[in-house]
Amino acid sequence: MRFGSLTLPSNLFLSPLAGYTNLPFRLVVRELGGVGLCTTDLVNARSLLEKRGKALKLIETRPEDSPMAVQLFGSVPEEMRDAAAYLESTGVASIDINMGCPVRKIVKVGGGSAMMTELDKTAALVKGMVDAVKIPVTAKMRLGWDDQNITAPDLARALEGVGVAAIFIHGRTREQGFSGTINLAGIRSVVQAVKTIPVIGNGDIITPQAAKKMFDETGCAGVSIGRGAFYDPWIFRRTLSYLQNGSDAAIPPEPPFAERVRVLCRHLDLMIEVFGEELGCRMFRKVAPWYSKRFGPAAEFNRHVVRISTRAEFHQVLENYLQWRRQFLDENGELKQKFQPPPMVASFMLEPEVVLRQQIPVPKGPVEVW
Ligand SMILES: Cc1cc2nc3c(=O)[nH]c(=O)nc-3n(C[C@H](O)[C@H](O)[C@H](O)COP(=O)(O)O)c2cc1C
Repeated sequence: MRFGSLTLPSNLFLSPLAGYTNLPFRLVVRELGGVGLCTTDLVNARSLLEKRGKALKLIETRPEDSPMAVQLFGSVPEEMRDAAAYLESTGVASIDINMGCPVRKIVKVGGGSAMMTELDKTAALVKGMVDAVKIPVTAKMRLGWDDQNITAPDLARALEGVGVAAIFIHGRTREQGFSGTINLAGIRSVVQAVKTIPVIGNGDIITPQAAKKMFDETGCAGVSIGRGAFYDPWIFRRTLSYLQNGSDAAIPPEPPFAERVRVLCRHLDLMIEVFGEELGCRMFRKVAPWYSKRFGPAAEFNRHVVRISTRAEFHQVLENYLQWRRQFLDENGELKQKFQPPPMVASFMLEPEVVLRQQIPVPKGPVEVW
C-alpha cells in the first residue's frame, strides 16, 4: 500500500486512541504482526512546539515502532505547520491531522470536528503543512457534523487538492458520538469523492469478517482499527490472513486463553519499561480489563487488577485469578461452553432489526410487570 512517498507493509492501520496508543501498545500490536502503520494518540501542536513533557512522551518511539504516524491537532496554521516540520526532523513516517474528535475540549479550540464546517480555512491550514514537509500528511475525519451536514466528501476532495496523501474516515457523524451503526454508504461516498488518494475506512471493525465487509462495500483502500485492537491485538494478523485467503473457512480463530495471558503480561512489561513501574502499573489498570473481556468469567480479575501498583501485585492478581477461573473449566482445561464469551459482531454486520432492538433504550420502571 502506498501513501505518497511511503510504502506500507499492509493496508491495515491502528487508529489513534488517546490514552491507549502509546509506545507499549503499538509495540504489542507490531510484535503480533499484520499492521501496516500505527498512529500515536492525538498530540497538541502547540504543546509539541513548546516541547512539553507530556507531548514529547506521546511521540516517544523506537526503531521497531515503525512506520509510525503522529496525529496532530490544533487550529493555528503556523503552529500546525511548524509542528509538522519538527516531526519530520525527528524521523516520523507520516503526519495525521485530527479533524474528527468529538471531545468538547478539542472542538472548543477549533480543532477536531469544528474544522469540518469551515472547508476553505481548513484546506489552507493543511496546505501550509503539506508544503512544509516531504513526508505524507493525512487527515482523519468523521462523516460530518450531523446527518444534515455530511461534509466529508467535499472536505476529502478539497484536501486531495492541496496534497493530502490519504484520508481516514470514521463512518459516523460527530452528533452520533460512538452510538448507532457505521454508515458504510457514507464511507463509500468519500471513496468516490477523491480521485487518486487512498481512503481508509474506520469504525467498529472487531473481526476479520467486518474488515472484509468494509472493503467490499465501500471500495476503501485500507481499514483502520481502534477498539477492536483492544479486544484483540491479533486482529491485524488474523485479518491479513483472512483477506489473503478469502475463504470463510480460513478465518484464523481467536487466540487461546494462554496466548492472551502471555500478551497481557508482555504488555505490562512494556508499560513498565516505558513509563516506570508505578505509572506503568497505574496506566495498566485501564488496559487489563480490555484483555479480560475475552477471558470468560473475569469479575475476580477486574476487581483486583484495577488496584495494582507493582509488577509483583499484578502477578499475584493473575495467579489468584487463574485459580479462581478453574471452576469454569472442563476436564481438558478449556472454558465450558456456557461460560464462553459470545462471538464478536460489528454493528454493521448485524441485521437492521437487531441493531434497532439494541438501540431502543429501556426506561426505568417495574420491568417485571411491563
Ligand atoms: C478511547 C478512545 C480514544 C480515541 N482517541 C482518538 C484520537 O486521539 N484521535 C482520533 O482521531 N480519534 C480517536 N478516537 C477515535 C478512533 O480513532 C476511531 O476513529 C473510533 O474509535 C472508531 O473506530 P473503532 O470502532 O475501530 O474504535 C478515539 C476513540 C476512543 C474509543
